[in-house]
Amino acid sequence: MTNHAPAAAEPTTTISGAQILQVGPVNPTVQTALAAEFGAARLPDAPEERRAFLDQHAHEIRVAVCSGRVGVDAELMRALPHLEVIVNFGVGYDATDVGQAAERGIPISNTPDVLTDCVADTALALYLDVLRRITAADRYVRRGDWGAKGNFPLTVRASGKAVGILGLGRIGTAIARRLEGFGCEIHYHNRQPVEGSSYAYHASAEELAEAVDVLVVAAAGGPASAGLVSGSVLEKLGPGGYLINIARGTVVDEEALVAALVDGRLGGAGLDVFADEPHVPPALIELDNVVLLPHLASGTVETRSDMAELALANLRSYLSDGSLVTPIS
Ligand code: 8YV
Repeated sequence: MTNHAPAAAEPTTTISGAQILQVGPVNPTVQTALAAEFGAARLPDAPEERRAFLDQHAHEIRVAVCSGRVGVDAELMRALPHLEVIVNFGVGYDATDVGQAAERGIPISNTPDVLTDCVADTALALYLDVLRRITAADRYVRRGDWGAKGNFPLTVRASGKAVGILGLGRIGTAIARRLEGFGCEIHYHNRQPVEGSSYAYHASAEELAEAVDVLVVAAAGGPASAGLVSGSVLEKLGPGGYLINIARGTVVDEEALVAALVDGRLGGAGLDVFADEPHVPPALIELDNVVLLPHLASGTVETRSDMAELALANLRSYLSDGSLVTPIS
């Protein structure tokens, strides 16, 4: 990943609440602190109101607080001429225009590490569910099919599979470690091999898909990874292969994924993320070999509380001395 983090610059003057802007919905703890502790303004969502707000206040704003889902996009960043820093709730910051921020010397903080375990746990839950068809079997029991039709069809062994991790970073590594506990053989693809890693490196997503039974997407979102899991990668996984995605919907060519699943050219998928959330392609709803989650991987009480604390620690740190606790790198 490129280093986009400009050096910390001390705020030139004390920043007041009116100069802090909440962009989009954020975690309730963060929202409460923004309003009560800092008296921050919230950017209106409705276009008319937003325009009016920006006409009046854009020049005052020096700090933006956003989430991984609604970031500071190119248009909003252009509209805020005195923006100094972006505090992002979430490890992913692909909704923010990182390139423009780097050009303008605007540092960004995110919330890494504290969510790694919960996101990896969710990947494993999807892995086990898709291969062993846990939620499909649960539906089978609830429909009364066990009594009416007999035993549930046999599923696929989850232990001992060859699993490919696309993006062996903090979260990818945590997923790999968990899979090792299931006796899985770990392969991965990154732009560069990870120094010291004993896992099998593949130079492309295609090569990785060809070598494994299950492909787990753990790569950061954004323009560099868009469509990395293409139709041809899915083809390499094939009818006996499975895709798990806990990263970003944009990393996968969603149209190709839907077509492969509908045509039976891919064995199944476990998806926590989608290209246009909360829109889920209707064709996927119909499929019993697909597990669909509403982007909940980091969504536990403990982790969201840790993320909120870290986001607020970044904000307080910037306001006090212009530094960030966890700048993106
Ligand atoms: C959050 C995430 O749901 O951290 C991320 O990148 O995708 C999730 O943990 C999201 O950021 C909430 O805004």
